[in-house]
Amino acid sequence: MTQVTMLSASQISHLLDMPAVIDAVADAYKEKVNHPATLWPMVYEQLGGEEDMDIRSGVLASKHVFGSKLLAWFGENAKRGLPELNGLVNLYSSDTGEPVAVLNATALTGFRTGAAGAVASRLLANPDATTLLVVGTGSQAPYQIMAQLCVLPKVTQVLLANPRDAKKAQAAVQRSRVIVTATPSTKPLIQADWVQPGTHLNAIGADMEGKQELDAKLFQGAQAYTDDVPQASEVGEIQNPIKAGVIKPEQVVEIGNSLLDPTLGRHDANAITIFDSTGIALQDLAAANLAFVRAKEQGVGTQVDL
Ligand SMILES: NC(=O)c1ccc[n+]([C@@H]2O[C@H](COP(=O)([O-])OP(=O)(O)OC[C@H]3O[C@@H](n4cnc5c(N)ncnc54)[C@H](O)[C@@H]3O)[C@@H](O)[C@H]2O)c1
Repeated sequence: MTQVTMLSASQISHLLDMPAVIDAVADAYKEKVNHPATLWPMVYEQLGGEEDMDIRSGVLASKHVFGSKLLAWFGENAKRGLPELNGLVNLYSSDTGEPVAVLNATALTGFRTGAAGAVASRLLANPDATTLLVVGTGSQAPYQIMAQLCVLPKVTQVLLANPRDAKKAQAAVQRSRVIVTATPSTKPLIQADWVQPGTHLNAIGADMEGKQELDAKLFQGAQAYTDDVPQASEVGEIQNPIKAGVIKPEQVVEIGNSLLDPTLGRHDANAITIFDSTGIALQDLAAANLAFVRAKEQGVGTQVDL
């Protein structure tokens, strides 16, 4: 009989800590470019005007797990008093093929997406940065702030910008040397000439065709990074400068490569660096596996015999 561990959002939030998830996600990025880990094609379906879902899946060979995450976004749910985002991660043993855990995907997504931005800032941001700006104040924002503060020890000021107030956003952008954007915008929220030399940006929001948070011109002369070049070229922030002819996909460095090769990092203190995070299954599997291993050690979760 197969025994599966079920983990709720609150159990996952207690089991995980951000520094450990940051390291797990960094390891998964490295494993992706070294190839023991594999991503399978993403499935995305628009279910209605305000409803969509995606499935991300793959194998995290070093941890002997494979699996998938299905996330459904139902934009009308707020009116029903329900969360807009729902989903599950299904984790399987790659030794036996058995399902080992089913995890609530919402808190897990916050942790692994926050961790992605932190991996990039730890590698690319100027270590002396004192001001962090987060554009967007939705579900991802608290996790982004938590994760950035884990890797930017000199940050003493966190600014939150209303993405729809261009004047205030401009002033905040000019004051900040690390910027996170986390909105579903389809129009640039940050203009190229607002961004100061030496700034690092994490573009988190664009994970679907048509989304855009940054002026495509910002990529001119900037150093660009992403989690998966083919996926990001289609659905990430870099889809826009690629369509506009500002950059080519070959100019974008996969973050796993830059983690393994220090020469691929920030060239100088005045460079503008941009990490386009689109979200890959290996982040989900890494975070889910960490939660599952800790749950087993601590006797947390509900055991179900299938
Ligand atoms: N890269 C990844 O791995 C990853 C992971 C999770 C979420 N996301 C994406 O990040 C974005 C934010 O996710 P969330 O869960 O925080 O969403 P959310 O709905 O909780 O919050 C969205 C925020 O953006 C603002 N906003 C909404 N529509 C806007 C628009 N048209 N223009 C400007 N601002 C707008 C809202 O006021 C709010 O502050 C989404 O696009 C989501 O798909 C990416």
